[in-house]
Amino acid sequence: MTVTNEDELEGLKAIGRIVAETMQAMAKAMEPGMTTRELDGIGRELLEREGAIPAPESTYAFPGATCISVNEEIAHGVPGDRVLAPGDLVNIDVSASKRGYFADTGATYRMAPVRPLLDRLCRDGRKATRIGIAQVASGRPLAAIGQAIGRFAEDRGYTLIRNLASHGVGRSLHEDPGEIATWPTRGDRRRITRGLVLTVEPFLSTGALWANGGADGWTLYSEPCAPVVQYEHTVVATDRGAIVVTAPG
Ligand code: CO
Ligand code: CO
Repeated sequence: MTVTNEDELEGLKAIGRIVAETMQAMAKAMEPGMTTRELDGIGRELLEREGAIPAPESTYAFPGATCISVNEEIAHGVPGDRVLAPGDLVNIDVSASKRGYFADTGATYRMAPVRPLLDRLCRDGRKATRIGIAQVASGRPLAAIGQAIGRFAEDRGYTLIRNLASHGVGRSLHEDPGEIATWPTRGDRRRITRGLVLTVEPFLSTGALWANGGADGWTLYSEPCAPVVQYEHTVVATDRGAIVVTAPG
């Protein structure tokens, strides 16, 4: 969507805060022995309490309120019987709507004990997202986001997943202007228009290049198999840069 007035911005910020706080509360509740279904249940309850509707479920009939992806799973993991274990890398992605406004956020968390390599990957994953967001402003090329993230990843010896893009969001979960690469691309001449609402969600890895679908029709796995992290925010483009709406209150 394109934000044109304060009311719309407030609507987005309201749902942005809800998904951010839900994700944080879920991360805090994680402990070894808990199933991903239990963790999803915590998220569902928090969203319901705030009057928010889980977007994966309402949009795609996804079997869960949130997406929880563990280790070799990198996105769209289905909450279920999987038991969280020490040392796991857990991605929680929360998207929901309220009053017709949609926001989408995600982050990868580590269960103790943390391997130093994964600690660094998580830190740099957050940085990659910040670098992408710094490219967002009215009139700038959409492709600048992927160029900047690509330079950062290459400098540090990381790879980026090249078939999981960022996207327009706001009045639905996935909308205009469609897919936005978080890796270097050629030939994308689109520009960021004033008020455009989009996600920035690079998938940074120590070797993986693609996301492959699994047998359940939802879960995506890294190819080649390597640790992957994702940090996602919903942002609004303004003349002076991005407003991040998925920040906790
Ligand atoms: Co998401
Ligand atoms: Co998204």
